[in-house]
Amino acid sequence: SQSPLQDRFGRVIDYVRLSVTDRCDFRCVYCMAEDMTFVPRERVLTLEEVARLARMLVSLGVRRIRLTGGEPLVRRGVADLVHEIGALDGLDELNMTTNGARLGHFADTLRAGGLSRVNISLDSLDPDRFHALTRTGHLQDVLDGIEAARQAGFRRIKLNSVILRGRNEDEVPALVDFALQRGLDISFIEEMPLGEIQEHDRALAFVSSQALREQIRRYHSLVPLAEKSGGPSRYWQVPGHDSRIGFISPHSQNFCHLCNRVRITAEGRMLLCLGHEHSVDLRAVLRSHPDDDGPLRQAIIDAMAIKPERHDFSLAPGEQLVRFMNMTGG
Ligand code: GTP
Ligand code: 5AD
Ligand code: SF4
Repeated sequence: SQSPLQDRFGRVIDYVRLSVTDRCDFRCVYCMAEDMTFVPRERVLTLEEVARLARMLVSLGVRRIRLTGGEPLVRRGVADLVHEIGALDGLDELNMTTNGARLGHFADTLRAGGLSRVNISLDSLDPDRFHALTRTGHLQDVLDGIEAARQAGFRRIKLNSVILRGRNEDEVPALVDFALQRGLDISFIEEMPLGEIQEHDRALAFVSSQALREQIRRYHSLVPLAEKSGGPSRYWQVPGHDSRIGFISPHSQNFCHLCNRVRITAEGRMLLCLGHEHSVDLRAVLRSHPDDDGPLRQAIIDAMAIKPERHDFSLAPGEQLVRFMNMTGG
């Protein structure tokens, strides 16, 4: 049968990124301002509201849900939420994107609760640089978290590295080797201009995915994998290794025509595209109709009509989206 969630351009939306908090124990320079203020608690969806949303989305044909943040593991009760969403009939995958610092504690519980996959941010293998990029993070916690995720039996663990000129671009070969040696996937990400950050000039920090592939090719041969529809990564492989090496290139390569996803912020705002403000306030619908799912269902279906065709990021100062990435969920 036809999926109910389809936009004006014929794209089927079967993947939703659900942010469970805008808070985080890190303050990554490309994601947050140093003195970030967070959303007051009463404006954040309760875990019951998030679970209700997830049930509705699955009934509307959503097959993959990714829990994001901020940092999802700082939200109290998130393991119970995983358990509840993980048990939904019709959901193929429940995944999480995390900074990894608390995975040492949570990995087994999440695995047992039905989480399918984890993506873990890792921008540097040098403890001082790691601390400078995350402002508050400790590399060893994340390395322990990655190990715990492997031990817990997670498959296809993916690392995410945002690469910035002058900060970590020279670490790309080391990050590739780290992933290859452990059979992990890794994606290199071009920084996206969300939120007015003071730390660096985004135009100067930009490194293209193309330049990174050239850097890697000095050490390894790279074979492109067939395009998989949906996600933003384009993947390559090093012969003899299982790892996939991905590149997320919002500036240098457009993938919007394959977009399969929408986002829901911690406040319950459905964002139709990462690069636009088009959104629908689902919290208002949830809270004004606590016992009737009809209006919620209709609001989600109607939202599809305002999904923009594509994003078009500009690195020019003053043209950045005001919304920070921690509000957006990556
Ligand atoms: P999959 O669920 O396996 O597709 O993972 P993913 O790579 O999409 O998700 P992850 O949470 O690991 O995010 C990695 C990077 O991809 C982050 O920087 C996200 O902001 C970015 N990203 C995810 N979806 C989109 C998208 O639709 N457009 C753009 N431009 N970037 C995206
Ligand atoms: N541009 C690109 N990726 C970003 N992330 C956070 N902020 C940005 C940004 N401005 C990434 C994190 C994490 C994922 C959720 O989003 O590194 O891997
Ligand atoms: Fe936290 Fe992730 Fe943002 Fe870093 S990128 S501050 S880990 S939410």
